[in-house]
Amino acid sequence: MHNQSLKLGVDLNGLTLHNPITVASGTFGFGREYSEYIDLNQIGAISVKGLTLEPRSGNEGIRIVETPMGMLNSVGLQNPGVHAFIKEEIPFLRQYQTKIIANINGNNIEEYCEMAQILSNEDVDSLELNISCPNVKNGGLAFGTNPEVVKEVVSKVRKHAKKHLIVKLSPNVTDIKAIAKIVEQEGADCIALINTLSGMAIDIYKRKPVLNRISGGLSGPAVKPVALRMVYDVAQTVKIPVLGMGGISNTADAIEFLLAGATALAIGTANFANPKVTAEILNGIETYMRTYQYDDINQLIGDLR
Ligand SMILES: Cc1cc2nc3c(=O)[nH]c(=O)nc-3n(C[C@H](O)[C@H](O)[C@H](O)COP(=O)(O)O)c2cc1C
Repeated sequence: MHNQSLKLGVDLNGLTLHNPITVASGTFGFGREYSEYIDLNQIGAISVKGLTLEPRSGNEGIRIVETPMGMLNSVGLQNPGVHAFIKEEIPFLRQYQTKIIANINGNNIEEYCEMAQILSNEDVDSLELNISCPNVKNGGLAFGTNPEVVKEVVSKVRKHAKKHLIVKLSPNVTDIKAIAKIVEQEGADCIALINTLSGMAIDIYKRKPVLNRISGGLSGPAVKPVALRMVYDVAQTVKIPVLGMGGISNTADAIEFLLAGATALAIGTANFANPKVTAEILNGIETYMRTYQYDDINQLIGDLR
């Protein structure tokens, strides 16, 4: 019984993964450092560090704060730029059977489209549109918080993206279901959620915000109940598959997201504390499937009673 092989493969509407465990953008670099701790072949897909057209050195000063059960970050999309990614990182990642998801970011819609166009001609498996970026034209408010802007950015990027397209939602909205519907209508293949929740910390001795940028993105176990509710709501609302994330740190968290309707999962902040957490969660899911007699992971997805 124990050796009976389980079916772990999932299909994110054209992006097939050999198991549902992926890693969240910005928490796994390009996989190089982690490859010393775990076999990257065990991960269904790697969403790489958020890419921009030009290299970025990220924000100045303090960029990370620990919070109860989580962290706040304002790293500011530090990355070597899309061209260095293509030259240096794709060949490295292609040594493994893990799928490559390129996380794309822009200051304006034209930049998002240009990134989508460039990466459509490269050897990546999927494009993940991060719409939590500040919109320079719109006073720095994130693209993903205004339904009209979401519609415009997704429809324009869709025209340039010749690859599987994931749109990653910002949770800093009143009605996540309305945003998800727009993203589906504009042609996304898959929805990822959640990105970080907007938060702040103050140093009471200096009487100043801890982060130079004042606010940052909250992630880790603290956000899990919010993320789970949003994943459930979106999975009930759209027909395209959901890539669920937000605070997943152990097997039980992962099973909750699968039962809530996520077809695949991303592990983010938990990688920082334990670089082997993805492999451990995958093992735990297999044990759960054997215990509760699921031979195919797809039977478990959305199986909320
Ligand atoms: C340090 C850090 C950097 C991140 N950078 C990105 C990024 O470049 N692009 C992106 O779409 N999300 C980024 N995220 C958000 C994560 O991918 C993920 O959506 C979020 O952290 C929630 O998952 P978690 O609680 O498991 O970390 C970042 C998160 C952290 C903590």
